[in-house]
Amino acid sequence: MNEPRWCDFERLEALVVGQFKEEAGGVHGVSHWRRVEQHGLWLASRTDVDVLVVRLFAWFHDSKRENDYTDPDHGKRGAEFARSLRGQLFDLDDDAMEKLVYACTWHTGRDFTDDLTIGACWDADRLDLGRVGVIPSPDFMNTPFGREVAKLRAL
Ligand SMILES: [Fe+2]
Ligand SMILES: [Fe+2]
Repeated sequence: MNEPRWCDFERLEALVVGQFKEEAGGVHGVSHWRRVEQHGLWLASRTDVDVLVVRLFAWFHDSKRENDYTDPDHGKRGAEFARSLRGQLFDLDDDAMEKLVYACTWHTGRDFTDDLTIGACWDADRLDLGRVGVIPSPDFMNTPFGREVAKLRAL
């Protein structure tokens, strides 16, 4: 049986942005999420990944950050937030949902994964480190295209 996969990105964006605790211009806020989504789409154009998971990661991974400094559990809370909206604003099959939850939960706690979809999520986030004055390192990329972009210092 084919399980449905969909996302109402317009409503998702309005809801996620509306509940965010920081100003929407913060370094972990909406402009960052948009860039992570864009990076994810580039990575997906060159890597065999689940693009819906990568796009959803962009909108959820930092959605529950409460400050820009120390908040080690923000990824876990972002994952729980995603779970709470499954079936209302988006849906995924169970395997893909588990990838989204894992990618959000561990995006700051773990560096590497063998799963390309989760790796593309983390690379898309790390490719935006330039916003805080850090040059993304090819040594901390999970996908070949992420490494290539980081080596070129193209972002
Ligand atoms: Fe984060
Ligand atoms: Fe992030």
